[in-house]
Amino acid sequence: MTGEPTIGDVFGEMIRDAYAVATGVGPRPLAGGRLPRPVIEIIERDDGLVNGAPAAHYLDPPQAWPPHDHRAVDRVRGRTLDIGVGGGRIALHLQERGTPVTGLDTSAGALRVCRHRGVRDLVLGTVDEHVADGRRYDTFLLLGNNLGLIEGRERAPGFLAALAALARPGARIIAHGTDPYGTRDPVHTGYHALNRRRGRLGGQLRLRLRYRQLGTEWFDYLVCSVDELAELVHGSPWRLVDVDDADRPYYLATLELAGA
Ligand SMILES: C[S@@+](CC[C@H](N)C(=O)[O-])C[C@H]1O[C@@H](n2cnc3c(N)ncnc32)[C@H](O)[C@@H]1O
Repeated sequence: MTGEPTIGDVFGEMIRDAYAVATGVGPRPLAGGRLPRPVIEIIERDDGLVNGAPAAHYLDPPQAWPPHDHRAVDRVRGRTLDIGVGGGRIALHLQERGTPVTGLDTSAGALRVCRHRGVRDLVLGTVDEHVADGRRYDTFLLLGNNLGLIEGRERAPGFLAALAALARPGARIIAHGTDPYGTRDPVHTGYHALNRRRGRLGGQLRLRLRYRQLGTEWFDYLVCSVDELAELVHGSPWRLVDVDDADRPYYLATLELAGA
């Protein structure tokens, strides 16, 4: 035994258990074989910081969403790819209102929960892998902070190029981000400084997720300011056309395919 987690579908196992708690479908997680155990997403950062947050919100109905999620879905038009569909809360809502939506995720377990909840069109994989499937979209959603999937300076050009390859003329990306720089907490300001010293964007988080005995590999997830996002988008096939920061430090960025 190494004390290290087994690499596996952390998000999938976590969302399965959160779904069992919410609905009674499947075995509910128990502590000591008897007591209900809360389902917590554990996020480790590479400076040793550990955070936990209840996973139930990934299944929330629209009434429980933060306001910016409602404003995001109001911007959706045409065939839509929900990237990192998670527990399917956004895709289900779009489907119910008649928007053609595909949920994409790298977690097979997350897609199982989505399917059980009634999301009809689901794809396992990354945006790069999905290009070869030949499907094309008018709107791309990166919600639940999933602007983070742009990762940083190295990944951004490839990620944005894959979305352009999946795009129909006039397509849009609607992305939820968080400006990380409002904090005075030295744990975070120190991490931003460390990142800059090692040539990374301040909020370029190096993370791994844990759930019970499972862990992910370490991966980059970006929290960036709007100015940093504008720099990452510059020179890509996309232009940043709108930023809604009414729920600061959260924001919704809208990108349009250049030349549209
Ligand atoms: C923070 S959750 C957001 C879930 C959902 N968008 C929401 O708002 O409730 C991140 C989701 O992205 C998925 N994911 C992580 N990396 C991905 C990748 N490279 N491509 C597609 N999905 C990914 C995870 O499995 C997880 O379902």
